[in-house]
Amino acid sequence: MKVLGIMGSPRLKGNTDLLLDEALRGAKSRQAKVEKIIVDKMKITPCKEYYGCLKDGNCVMRDDMDVVIPKLLEAEGIIVASPMFFYGVTAQLKALIDRCQALWVRKNILKNLPESKRKGAFIGVGATRGKQLFDGSILVIKYFFQAFGAEYADELLVRGVDKRGEIKEHPDLLKEAFALGERLAQSTT
Ligand SMILES: Cc1cc2nc3c(=O)[nH]c(=O)nc-3n(C[C@H](O)[C@H](O)[C@H](O)COP(=O)(O)O)c2cc1C
Repeated sequence: MKVLGIMGSPRLKGNTDLLLDEALRGAKSRQAKVEKIIVDKMKITPCKEYYGCLKDGNCVMRDDMDVVIPKLLEAEGIIVASPMFFYGVTAQLKALIDRCQALWVRKNILKNLPESKRKGAFIGVGATRGKQLFDGSILVIKYFFQAFGAEYADELLVRGVDKRGEIKEHPDLLKEAFALGERLAQSTT
């Protein structure tokens, strides 16, 4: 089975990146074929509401979403990871999500998106410890998964890490990320 990791932080080897790597290592340990995309390295224009997708479920803009959409549809497991930026996911990741309106159209208007048993997981990271830190992002990620028929199956929400790579001081949390990847790979077989 295939597990796709979507790395939403612009900071390479930062907290989100390291947690996602652990999750993907966990999935790989359960025989998943894993792949990671680094959203910040891709050219993804935010949705412009041209609504070309209403015609055939394809966006009229040509950029790296042409690569992302097939990867999303091929994967049985998807792990989305993002730091919290002003109580939300990063702008880079949000642009990718909004461009999946094309999939939402396929599923809900054209009704030609094949049924699937895809499962998704969310890894969120923030510096503060507020109770509601992840509330908005969880709603975004749930709706994102729903757009292409994936179930929101798991999450790891990490509070109180800020500096680049600070997560390495929390091996317990890295282990939790590994375990999340294992669970996702197991549940998609
Ligand atoms: C633009 C920006 C906005 C941020 N907003 C929040 C926030 O609303 N809440 C929070 O807890 N941390 C916030 N942070 C801190 C990051 O979430 C935190 O440093 C995180 O560990 C970064 O993860 P990374 O290393 O994967 O990029 C913000 C950081 C930046 C750069």
